[in-house]
Amino acid sequence: MEKQTVIVIGAGQMGSGIAQVFAQAGWHVYLNDLQTELIERGLAAIRKNLAHQVEKQKLSSEERDAVLSRLTPSTSLEDAAGAEMVVEAATENMKVKKEIFKQLSGIAPKDVVLATNTSSLPITELAAVTDRPENVIGMHFMNPVPVMKLVEIVRGLVTSDQVYEKVYDTAAALGKTAVEVNDFPGFVSNRVLMPMINEAVYTLYEGVATKEAIDEVMKLGMNHPMGPLTLADFIGLDTCLYIMETLHEGFGDDKYRPCPLLRKYVNAGWLGRKTGRGFYTYE
Ligand code: CAA
Repeated sequence: MEKQTVIVIGAGQMGSGIAQVFAQAGWHVYLNDLQTELIERGLAAIRKNLAHQVEKQKLSSEERDAVLSRLTPSTSLEDAAGAEMVVEAATENMKVKKEIFKQLSGIAPKDVVLATNTSSLPITELAAVTDRPENVIGMHFMNPVPVMKLVEIVRGLVTSDQVYEKVYDTAAALGKTAVEVNDFPGFVSNRVLMPMINEAVYTLYEGVATKEAIDEVMKLGMNHPMGPLTLADFIGLDTCLYIMETLHEGFGDDKYRPCPLLRKYVNAGWLGRKTGRGFYTYE
């Protein structure tokens, strides 16, 4: 595939990981966020990952330098005018995402793919705020992006086949495996994963076992690489709560009710690894 330019909107954990895999696949990448400090934090994470790959002799230092040279910081959505693809990985909030997509409508050329990395929000509703809903698609990467093989591709109601194929081919060129799903709350990944995490929190809340015991059961008993409470801390408890609320609201079924303990931790500012405290504490 001809090497192109992508703008990744949001330089957080997901956005910086997405920017890294695009740059490593030879794309020119604008890494966009509201403030330079946020972009710098994202770039620092990328540099650290690449340094690890060099140390492990999976990447030469020349290749590392070439990857870094393909990353351009951006604080203006106007840079979307020079891109063939947009991947939005901003905060998981419909209002924020709608505002970004509305602005992109006025900036990006008509044939640009407008992909969102949303983990559960409806693609069709987001697409409806643009003047080209057929170009809007979900391109849901998993965390940590450089390691995880899956990209869940989510078609909105009117996403065109051409856009779907472009995103499918792009995922393959990034070394990922794409799986197609339809636009329903939580798609497949989080519809299955989050109720399991939420149930693990209920198990803790009801005193069935300690957090360590719950995680150990799922790691050793089910061969999961991380226990569900460790994984929740890794994903971010605010994200877990937001996704459970999206499922609860979207299906109206009480089986998706977020555990009060999850809500309490989020309200306390215990968001997991990123704040140094969640179910566990981190240095
Ligand atoms: N960024 C980049 N690379 C990372 C990384 C990160 N954050 N974390 C680990 N790695 C790399 C390591 O550098 C290491 O690479 P090498 O083999 O080259 O040294 C490799 O991954 C393995 O790491 P470790 O040996 O340190 O640890 P591990 O074997 O326990 O693996 C893990 C770490 C890959 C994170 C593993 O624990 C795992 O798969 N956990 C589950 C992750 C998961 O379920 N992700 C999905 C979350 S849900 C989601 O993302 C969707 C959503 O919408 C919420």
